[in-house]
Amino acid sequence: MKIDPWSSSTYQDYARLRDEFGIEAFTEQQWQSLPEPHRLLRRGVVFGHRDFSLITDAIQQQKPWAILTGLMPSGKMHLGHKMIIDEVIYYQSIGADVFIAVADIESYGTRGYSLKETKELAVNEYIKNYIALGLKPTRCRIYFQSKNQDVKDLAYLLGKKVNWSQMTATYGFTGQTNMTHVLSPLIQTGDILHVQLPQHGGIRPVLVPVGVDQDPHIRLSRDIAKAHRLYNVTKTKDEKIGVFVKPDDHVEALLDNAEHILRNNDFTALKRITDYKAIYIEDATEDHIERIDQLLAYSEPDFDGYGFLPPAATFHRFMTGLTGEKMSSSKPESAIFLTDTIEEAKKKIMHAKTGGAVSLEQQKKEGGNPDDCMIYELFLYHLIEDDEALHEIYSTCRNGERMCGHCKKQAADQMADFLTNIATKRDQAEDVMDEYLK
Ligand code: TRP
Ligand code: SF4
Repeated sequence: MKIDPWSSSTYQDYARLRDEFGIEAFTEQQWQSLPEPHRLLRRGVVFGHRDFSLITDAIQQQKPWAILTGLMPSGKMHLGHKMIIDEVIYYQSIGADVFIAVADIESYGTRGYSLKETKELAVNEYIKNYIALGLKPTRCRIYFQSKNQDVKDLAYLLGKKVNWSQMTATYGFTGQTNMTHVLSPLIQTGDILHVQLPQHGGIRPVLVPVGVDQDPHIRLSRDIAKAHRLYNVTKTKDEKIGVFVKPDDHVEALLDNAEHILRNNDFTALKRITDYKAIYIEDATEDHIERIDQLLAYSEPDFDGYGFLPPAATFHRFMTGLTGEKMSSSKPESAIFLTDTIEEAKKKIMHAKTGGAVSLEQQKKEGGNPDDCMIYELFLYHLIEDDEALHEIYSTCRNGERMCGHCKKQAADQMADFLTNIATKRDQAEDVMDEYLK
Protein backbone atom coordinates (compact mmCIF):
# COMPACT_ATOMS: atom_id res chain seq x y z
CA MET A 1 0.00 0.00 0.00
CA LYS A 2 1.12 3.53 -0.77
CA ILE A 3 -0.28 6.86 0.38
CA ASP A 4 -0.50 9.31 -2.50
CA PRO A 5 -0.84 12.84 -1.12
CA TRP A 6 -2.11 14.18 -4.43
CA SER A 7 -4.78 11.59 -5.15
CA SER A 8 -8.42 12.01 -4.32
CA SER A 9 -8.91 8.63 -2.72
CA THR A 10 -10.74 8.25 0.55
CA TYR A 11 -9.56 6.12 3.45
CA GLN A 12 -11.74 3.53 5.08
CA ASP A 13 -9.65 1.83 7.65
CA TYR A 14 -7.63 4.35 9.59
CA ALA A 15 -6.37 1.89 12.19
CA ARG A 16 -4.87 -0.33 9.51
CA LEU A 17 -3.29 2.61 7.77
CA ARG A 18 -1.83 3.76 11.06
CA ASP A 19 -0.33 0.41 11.91
CA GLU A 20 0.99 -0.24 8.44
CA PHE A 21 2.97 3.00 8.39
CA GLY A 22 4.21 2.85 11.96
CA ILE A 23 2.12 5.78 13.15
CA GLU A 24 1.45 5.61 16.90
CA ALA A 25 -2.11 5.56 18.22
CA PHE A 26 -3.30 8.89 19.60
CA THR A 27 -5.30 8.14 22.71
CA GLU A 28 -6.24 9.68 26.03
CA GLN A 29 -2.67 9.06 27.14
CA GLN A 30 -1.50 11.66 24.63
CA TRP A 31 -4.08 14.35 25.29
CA GLN A 32 -4.84 14.03 28.98
CA SER A 33 -1.88 16.13 30.08
CA LEU A 34 -2.84 19.02 27.78
CA PRO A 35 -4.69 22.03 29.16
CA GLU A 36 -8.37 21.90 28.11
CA PRO A 37 -7.81 19.40 25.31
CA HIS A 38 -9.54 20.27 22.07
CA ARG A 39 -12.64 18.33 20.97
CA LEU A 40 -10.88 16.92 17.91
CA LEU A 41 -8.26 15.42 20.22
CA ARG A 42 -10.78 14.13 22.76
CA ARG A 43 -13.07 12.52 20.21
CA GLY A 44 -10.67 10.38 18.26
CA VAL A 45 -10.71 12.55 15.15
CA VAL A 46 -6.99 12.89 15.69
CA PHE A 47 -6.17 9.21 15.67
CA GLY A 48 -2.41 8.98 15.24
CA HIS A 49 0.86 10.74 15.94
CA ARG A 50 4.61 10.62 15.60
CA ASP A 51 6.75 11.78 18.54
CA PHE A 52 3.95 13.76 20.18
CA SER A 53 5.79 13.38 23.51
CA LEU A 54 8.30 16.00 22.28
CA ILE A 55 5.40 18.45 22.38
CA THR A 56 3.86 17.42 25.70
CA ASP A 57 7.31 17.48 27.29
CA ALA A 58 7.93 21.00 26.00
CA ILE A 59 4.57 22.14 27.33
CA GLN A 60 5.16 20.57 30.70
CA GLN A 61 8.65 22.02 31.01
CA GLN A 62 7.42 25.38 29.69
CA LYS A 63 9.96 25.35 26.90
CA PRO A 64 9.36 26.96 23.52
CA TRP A 65 7.73 24.91 20.77
CA ALA A 66 6.09 25.64 17.47
CA ILE A 67 3.34 24.44 15.24
CA LEU A 68 3.52 24.55 11.48
CA THR A 69 0.94 23.64 8.93
CA GLY A 70 0.31 24.39 5.31
CA LEU A 71 -2.68 25.28 3.23
CA MET A 72 -3.11 24.24 -0.35
CA PRO A 73 -4.76 27.07 -2.22
CA SER A 74 -6.97 25.20 -4.64
CA GLY A 75 -10.69 25.71 -4.48
CA LYS A 76 -12.77 27.11 -1.66
CA MET A 77 -12.30 26.54 2.06
CA HIS A 78 -14.75 24.03 3.49
CA LEU A 79 -15.41 22.45 6.86
CA GLY A 80 -12.77 19.78 6.26
CA HIS A 81 -10.16 22.51 5.95
CA LYS A 82 -11.50 24.20 9.06
CA MET A 83 -10.40 21.26 11.22
CA ILE A 84 -6.69 21.99 10.88
CA ILE A 85 -7.04 25.63 11.72
CA ASP A 86 -9.22 24.78 14.71
CA GLU A 87 -6.32 22.68 15.95
CA VAL A 88 -3.78 25.40 15.22
CA ILE A 89 -5.83 27.99 17.10
CA TYR A 90 -6.09 25.65 20.07
CA TYR A 91 -2.33 25.05 20.12
CA GLN A 92 -1.71 28.76 19.77
CA SER A 93 -3.87 29.31 22.86
CA ILE A 94 -1.63 26.99 24.86
CA GLY A 95 1.59 28.68 23.85
CA ALA A 96 2.81 27.47 20.45
CA ASP A 97 4.58 29.73 17.97
CA VAL A 98 2.50 29.44 14.80
CA PHE A 99 3.69 29.17 11.20
CA ILE A 100 1.38 28.67 8.24
CA ALA A 101 2.76 27.95 4.79
CA VAL A 102 0.70 28.87 1.77
CA ALA A 103 1.63 26.03 -0.57
CA ASP A 104 1.50 28.15 -3.69
CA ILE A 105 4.43 26.42 -5.38
CA GLU A 106 2.85 23.03 -4.71
CA SER A 107 -0.51 24.19 -6.01
CA TYR A 108 1.19 25.57 -9.11
CA GLY A 109 3.24 22.41 -9.66
CA THR A 110 0.56 19.82 -8.92
CA ARG A 111 -2.81 21.47 -9.55
CA GLY A 112 -2.03 23.85 -12.34
CA TYR A 113 -2.97 27.13 -10.64
CA SER A 114 -0.98 30.27 -11.42
CA LEU A 115 0.78 32.00 -8.52
CA LYS A 116 -1.60 34.93 -8.93
CA GLU A 117 -4.64 32.68 -8.61
CA THR A 118 -3.22 30.92 -5.58
CA LYS A 119 -2.61 34.28 -3.91
CA GLU A 120 -6.23 35.33 -4.48
CA LEU A 121 -7.53 32.06 -3.11
CA ALA A 122 -5.18 31.97 -0.14
CA VAL A 123 -6.08 35.48 0.98
CA ASN A 124 -9.80 35.54 0.33
CA GLU A 125 -10.74 31.95 1.00
CA TYR A 126 -8.31 30.82 3.64
CA ILE A 127 -6.47 33.55 5.51
CA LYS A 128 -9.55 35.70 6.04
CA ASN A 129 -11.40 32.72 7.45
CA TYR A 130 -8.45 31.77 9.66
CA ILE A 131 -8.55 35.24 11.21
CA ALA A 132 -12.33 35.11 11.51
CA LEU A 133 -12.07 31.76 13.28
CA GLY A 134 -9.83 33.31 15.91
CA LEU A 135 -6.20 32.94 14.85
CA LYS A 136 -4.19 35.64 16.68
CA PRO A 137 -1.39 37.67 15.08
CA THR A 138 1.09 37.48 17.93
CA ARG A 139 3.84 34.94 17.41
CA CYS A 140 2.11 33.91 14.22
CA ARG A 141 3.41 34.08 10.70
CA ILE A 142 1.65 33.19 7.46
CA TYR A 143 3.94 33.10 4.44
CA PHE A 144 3.94 32.05 0.79
CA GLN A 145 6.35 29.29 -0.23
CA SER A 146 7.29 31.22 -3.36
CA LYS A 147 8.35 34.23 -1.27
CA ASN A 148 10.24 32.47 1.49
CA GLN A 149 13.92 32.31 0.62
CA ASP A 150 14.86 30.21 3.67
CA VAL A 151 12.28 27.57 2.75
CA LYS A 152 13.46 27.43 -0.85
CA ASP A 153 17.13 27.30 0.17
CA LEU A 154 16.45 24.35 2.44
CA ALA A 155 14.56 22.57 -0.33
CA TYR A 156 17.71 22.68 -2.46
CA LEU A 157 20.23 22.00 0.27
CA LEU A 158 18.39 19.27 2.17
CA GLY A 159 17.72 17.42 -1.08
CA LYS A 160 21.37 16.37 -0.99
CA LYS A 161 20.51 13.48 1.28
CA VAL A 162 17.55 12.09 -0.67
CA ASN A 163 17.90 10.28 -3.93
CA TRP A 164 15.65 9.57 -6.87
CA SER A 165 14.98 5.96 -5.86
CA GLN A 166 13.63 7.12 -2.53
CA MET A 167 11.42 9.70 -4.21
CA THR A 168 9.97 7.27 -6.73
CA ALA A 169 9.47 4.61 -4.06
CA THR A 170 7.67 7.06 -1.79
CA TYR A 171 5.63 9.00 -4.31
CA GLY A 172 5.46 6.90 -7.43
CA PHE A 173 6.99 9.63 -9.57
CA THR A 174 7.60 8.65 -13.17
CA GLY A 175 9.45 10.01 -16.16
CA GLN A 176 6.38 12.13 -16.89
CA THR A 177 6.18 13.89 -13.52
CA ASN A 178 7.01 17.57 -13.88
CA MET A 179 10.00 18.83 -11.92
CA THR A 180 8.11 21.40 -9.84
CA HIS A 181 5.93 18.55 -8.65
CA VAL A 182 9.03 16.47 -7.93
CA LEU A 183 10.47 19.34 -5.91
CA SER A 184 7.30 19.99 -3.92
CA PRO A 185 7.96 17.41 -1.15
CA LEU A 186 11.36 19.02 -0.62
CA ILE A 187 9.75 22.43 -0.39
CA GLN A 188 7.32 21.02 2.16
CA THR A 189 10.33 19.67 4.06
CA GLY A 190 11.72 23.21 3.88
CA ASP A 191 8.43 24.49 5.35
CA ILE A 192 8.56 21.99 8.16
CA LEU A 193 12.22 22.39 9.09
CA HIS A 194 12.89 26.09 8.46
CA VAL A 195 11.18 27.06 11.72
CA GLN A 196 14.14 25.53 13.56
CA LEU A 197 16.63 27.87 11.85
CA PRO A 198 18.07 30.48 14.23
CA GLN A 199 16.32 33.37 12.48
CA HIS A 200 12.91 31.69 12.97
CA GLY A 201 13.16 30.81 16.64
CA GLY A 202 15.85 28.14 16.60
CA ILE A 203 15.93 24.46 17.39
CA ARG A 204 12.78 23.37 19.22
CA PRO A 205 10.03 20.78 19.03
CA VAL A 206 7.68 21.41 16.12
CA LEU A 207 4.26 19.88 15.67
CA VAL A 208 2.80 19.39 12.21
CA PRO A 209 -0.92 18.58 12.39
CA VAL A 210 -2.10 17.08 9.11
CA GLY A 211 -4.50 14.72 7.42
CA VAL A 212 -3.10 11.24 7.11
CA ASP A 213 -2.58 11.71 3.36
CA GLN A 214 0.40 13.91 4.27
CA ASP A 215 2.29 11.18 6.10
CA PRO A 216 4.75 10.53 3.24
CA HIS A 217 5.87 14.16 3.58
CA ILE A 218 6.15 13.80 7.34
CA ARG A 219 8.30 10.68 6.98
CA LEU A 220 10.47 12.42 4.41
CA SER A 221 10.99 15.47 6.66
CA ARG A 222 11.84 13.29 9.62
CA ASP A 223 14.30 11.21 7.60
CA ILE A 224 15.92 14.33 6.19
CA ALA A 225 16.14 16.01 9.59
CA LYS A 226 17.91 12.97 10.92
CA ALA A 227 20.20 12.56 7.92
CA HIS A 228 21.55 16.08 8.43
CA ARG A 229 22.30 15.65 12.12
CA LEU A 230 25.95 15.56 13.21
CA TYR A 231 25.36 13.22 16.13
CA ASN A 232 23.49 9.96 16.28
CA VAL A 233 22.46 8.75 19.73
CA THR A 234 21.46 5.13 19.76
CA LYS A 235 21.43 1.81 21.49
CA THR A 236 24.12 -0.42 20.04
CA LYS A 237 23.87 -4.10 19.21
CA ASP A 238 25.49 -4.94 22.52
CA GLU A 239 22.86 -2.91 24.39
CA LYS A 240 25.03 0.11 25.14
CA ILE A 241 23.94 3.70 24.74
CA GLY A 242 26.33 5.45 22.41
CA VAL A 243 26.84 8.87 20.88
CA PHE A 244 28.29 8.62 17.38
CA VAL A 245 29.79 11.43 15.36
CA LYS A 246 28.60 11.19 11.77
CA PRO A 247 30.84 13.48 9.72
CA ASP A 248 34.50 12.69 9.16
CA ASP A 249 35.74 16.21 9.82
CA HIS A 250 36.25 17.77 13.23
CA VAL A 251 35.69 14.44 14.91
CA GLU A 252 37.85 15.30 17.92
CA ALA A 253 36.13 18.64 18.43
CA LEU A 254 32.70 17.05 18.13
CA LEU A 255 33.62 14.33 20.60
CA ASP A 256 35.04 16.92 23.02
CA ASN A 257 31.83 18.88 22.72
CA ALA A 258 29.62 15.85 23.35
CA GLU A 259 31.72 14.76 26.29
CA HIS A 260 31.50 18.21 27.81
CA ILE A 261 27.70 18.34 27.40
CA LEU A 262 27.25 14.85 28.82
CA ARG A 263 29.35 15.60 31.88
CA ASN A 264 27.45 18.83 32.49
CA ASN A 265 24.29 16.79 32.52
CA ASP A 266 25.50 14.28 35.06
CA PHE A 267 26.55 11.46 32.81
CA THR A 268 29.96 10.47 34.09
CA ALA A 269 30.64 6.88 33.09
CA LEU A 270 31.84 7.80 29.62
CA LYS A 271 34.03 5.65 27.43
CA ARG A 272 35.41 7.46 24.44
CA ILE A 273 36.72 5.51 21.47
CA THR A 274 37.97 7.98 18.94
CA ASP A 275 38.59 5.35 16.28
CA TYR A 276 34.88 4.51 16.32
CA LYS A 277 33.99 8.22 16.54
CA ALA A 278 32.00 7.20 19.59
CA ILE A 279 31.33 7.85 23.24
CA TYR A 280 29.63 5.07 25.15
CA ILE A 281 27.58 6.26 28.12
CA GLU A 282 27.59 3.53 30.69
CA ASP A 283 25.30 5.34 33.10
CA ALA A 284 22.58 5.98 30.50
CA THR A 285 19.61 3.81 29.55
CA GLU A 286 17.32 3.77 26.55
CA ASP A 287 15.02 6.22 28.34
CA HIS A 288 17.76 8.87 28.20
CA ILE A 289 18.24 8.75 24.43
CA GLU A 290 15.69 11.41 23.54
CA ARG A 291 17.02 13.84 26.12
CA ILE A 292 20.65 13.31 25.17
CA ASP A 293 19.78 13.68 21.51
CA GLN A 294 18.13 17.03 22.24
CA LEU A 295 21.01 18.27 24.38
CA LEU A 296 23.45 17.53 21.56
CA ALA A 297 21.18 18.95 18.85
CA TYR A 298 21.29 22.41 20.40
CA SER A 299 25.09 22.49 20.03
CA GLU A 300 25.21 21.43 16.39
CA PRO A 301 24.95 24.95 14.93
CA ASP A 302 28.36 25.66 16.56
CA PHE A 303 29.75 23.09 14.12
CA ASP A 304 27.84 24.24 11.05
CA GLY A 305 25.08 21.69 11.58
CA TYR A 306 21.35 22.33 11.70
CA GLY A 307 20.58 20.29 14.81
CA PHE A 308 17.01 19.69 13.63
CA LEU A 309 14.83 17.82 16.11
CA PRO A 310 12.59 15.32 14.34
CA PRO A 311 9.31 17.09 13.56
CA ALA A 312 6.36 15.65 15.48
CA ALA A 313 3.04 15.10 13.77
CA THR A 314 -0.58 14.34 14.50
CA PHE A 315 -2.93 12.80 11.96
CA HIS A 316 -6.64 13.40 11.71
CA ARG A 317 -9.39 11.52 9.94
CA PHE A 318 -11.17 13.23 7.10
CA MET A 319 -14.75 14.35 7.33
CA THR A 320 -17.01 12.44 5.03
CA GLY A 321 -18.78 14.51 2.41
CA LEU A 322 -22.42 15.35 3.13
CA THR A 323 -23.39 13.08 0.27
CA GLY A 324 -21.51 10.16 1.81
CA GLU A 325 -18.56 10.36 -0.61
CA LYS A 326 -15.36 12.31 -0.23
CA MET A 327 -15.71 15.93 0.84
CA SER A 328 -14.30 17.98 -1.98
CA SER A 329 -14.23 21.57 -3.19
CA SER A 330 -14.98 20.34 -6.67
CA LYS A 331 -18.26 18.76 -5.53
CA PRO A 332 -20.14 21.68 -3.91
CA GLU A 333 -23.00 19.48 -2.68
CA SER A 334 -20.52 17.37 -0.69
CA ALA A 335 -19.13 20.24 1.36
CA ILE A 336 -20.24 23.27 3.32
CA PHE A 337 -18.00 26.19 2.42
CA LEU A 338 -17.27 28.86 4.97
CA THR A 339 -18.57 31.41 2.50
CA ASP A 340 -21.86 29.56 1.84
CA THR A 341 -25.04 31.51 2.47
CA ILE A 342 -27.38 30.24 5.14
CA GLU A 343 -29.78 29.03 2.46
CA GLU A 344 -27.09 27.10 0.59
CA ALA A 345 -25.88 25.44 3.78
CA LYS A 346 -29.40 24.60 4.87
CA LYS A 347 -30.16 22.99 1.56
CA LYS A 348 -27.02 20.84 1.72
CA ILE A 349 -27.81 19.77 5.26
CA MET A 350 -31.38 18.85 4.37
CA HIS A 351 -30.09 16.69 1.51
CA ALA A 352 -27.30 15.09 3.53
CA LYS A 353 -26.98 11.37 3.99
CA THR A 354 -28.05 10.27 7.46
CA GLY A 355 -28.01 7.07 9.42
CA GLY A 356 -31.78 7.09 9.68
CA ALA A 357 -33.94 4.06 9.09
CA VAL A 358 -36.14 3.66 6.00
CA SER A 359 -39.29 4.79 7.78
CA LEU A 360 -40.12 6.82 10.87
CA GLU A 361 -41.80 3.80 12.30
CA GLN A 362 -38.78 1.64 11.94
CA GLN A 363 -36.49 4.34 13.30
CA LYS A 364 -38.63 4.61 16.42
CA LYS A 365 -38.41 0.89 16.83
CA GLU A 366 -34.78 0.19 15.91
CA GLY A 367 -33.09 3.57 16.25
CA GLY A 368 -30.75 5.33 13.86
CA ASN A 369 -27.07 4.85 13.19
CA PRO A 370 -25.08 7.97 14.16
CA ASP A 371 -21.82 6.25 13.24
CA ASP A 372 -22.84 6.42 9.61
CA CYS A 373 -24.48 9.82 9.60
CA MET A 374 -23.18 13.05 8.08
CA ILE A 375 -25.31 15.15 10.41
CA TYR A 376 -23.78 13.49 13.42
CA GLU A 377 -20.34 14.18 11.93
CA LEU A 378 -21.19 17.87 11.74
CA PHE A 379 -22.01 17.82 15.44
CA LEU A 380 -18.97 15.82 16.38
CA TYR A 381 -16.39 17.73 14.32
CA HIS A 382 -17.79 21.23 14.51
CA LEU A 383 -21.09 22.15 16.03
CA ILE A 384 -21.17 20.72 19.53
CA GLU A 385 -18.47 21.52 22.03
CA ASP A 386 -20.00 19.88 25.08
CA ASP A 387 -19.25 16.15 25.26
CA GLU A 388 -22.36 15.39 27.30
CA ALA A 389 -24.62 17.10 24.79
CA LEU A 390 -22.98 15.15 21.97
CA HIS A 391 -23.39 11.93 23.86
CA GLU A 392 -27.06 12.75 24.38
CA ILE A 393 -27.55 13.05 20.62
CA TYR A 394 -25.76 9.77 20.10
CA SER A 395 -27.80 7.81 22.58
CA THR A 396 -31.19 9.31 21.71
CA CYS A 397 -30.48 8.54 18.06
CA ARG A 398 -29.53 4.97 18.88
CA ASN A 399 -32.55 4.31 21.03
CA GLY A 400 -35.04 5.73 18.54
CA GLU A 401 -36.09 8.85 20.41
CA ARG A 402 -34.47 11.21 17.92
CA MET A 403 -35.73 11.64 14.36
CA CYS A 404 -33.64 12.84 11.44
CA GLY A 405 -35.91 15.73 10.44
CA HIS A 406 -35.60 17.36 13.82
CA CYS A 407 -31.93 16.55 13.97
CA LYS A 408 -31.20 18.12 10.60
CA LYS A 409 -33.05 21.22 11.64
CA GLN A 410 -30.92 21.52 14.74
CA ALA A 411 -27.76 21.17 12.63
CA ALA A 412 -29.02 23.71 10.09
CA ASP A 413 -29.84 26.25 12.82
CA GLN A 414 -26.47 25.86 14.48
CA MET A 415 -24.72 26.06 11.14
CA ALA A 416 -26.64 29.23 10.29
CA ASP A 417 -25.43 30.86 13.52
CA PHE A 418 -21.89 29.80 12.80
CA LEU A 419 -21.91 31.06 9.20
CA THR A 420 -23.47 34.41 10.16
CA ASN A 421 -20.91 34.93 12.85
CA ILE A 422 -17.98 33.99 10.67
CA ALA A 423 -19.16 36.24 7.81
CA THR A 424 -19.18 39.27 10.09
CA LYS A 425 -15.73 38.51 11.40
CA ARG A 426 -14.41 37.83 7.91
CA ASP A 427 -15.41 41.36 6.89
CA GLN A 428 -13.29 42.75 9.69
CA ALA A 429 -10.34 40.51 8.88
CA GLU A 430 -9.17 42.53 5.88
CA ASP A 431 -7.99 45.40 8.10
CA VAL A 432 -5.68 43.25 10.19
CA MET A 433 -4.39 40.93 7.47
CA ASP A 434 -0.94 42.57 7.32
CA GLU A 435 -0.23 41.66 10.93
CA TYR A 436 -0.16 38.00 9.90
CA LEU A 437 1.70 38.22 6.60
CA LYS A 438 5.04 39.18 8.06
N1 TRP B 1 0.88 19.46 0.99
C1 TRP B 1 -0.08 20.10 1.85
C2 TRP B 1 -1.50 19.86 1.27
O1 TRP B 1 -1.63 19.29 0.24
C3 TRP B 1 0.18 21.57 2.04
C4 TRP B 1 1.45 21.86 2.77
C5 TRP B 1 2.53 22.54 2.26
C6 TRP B 1 1.79 21.53 4.11
N2 TRP B 1 3.47 22.67 3.21
C7 TRP B 1 3.08 22.06 4.34
C8 TRP B 1 1.14 20.84 5.13
C9 TRP B 1 3.73 21.90 5.55
C10 TRP B 1 1.80 20.68 6.35
C11 TRP B 1 3.08 21.20 6.55
O2 TRP B 1 -2.47 20.26 1.88
FE1 SF4 C 1 -28.24 11.13 12.15
FE2 SF4 C 1 -29.73 12.57 13.75
FE3 SF4 C 1 -30.84 10.84 12.05
FE4 SF4 C 1 -29.47 9.98 14.15
S1 SF4 C 1 -31.37 11.15 14.17
S2 SF4 C 1 -29.31 9.23 12.06
S3 SF4 C 1 -27.87 11.52 14.30
S4 SF4 C 1 -29.70 12.68 11.54
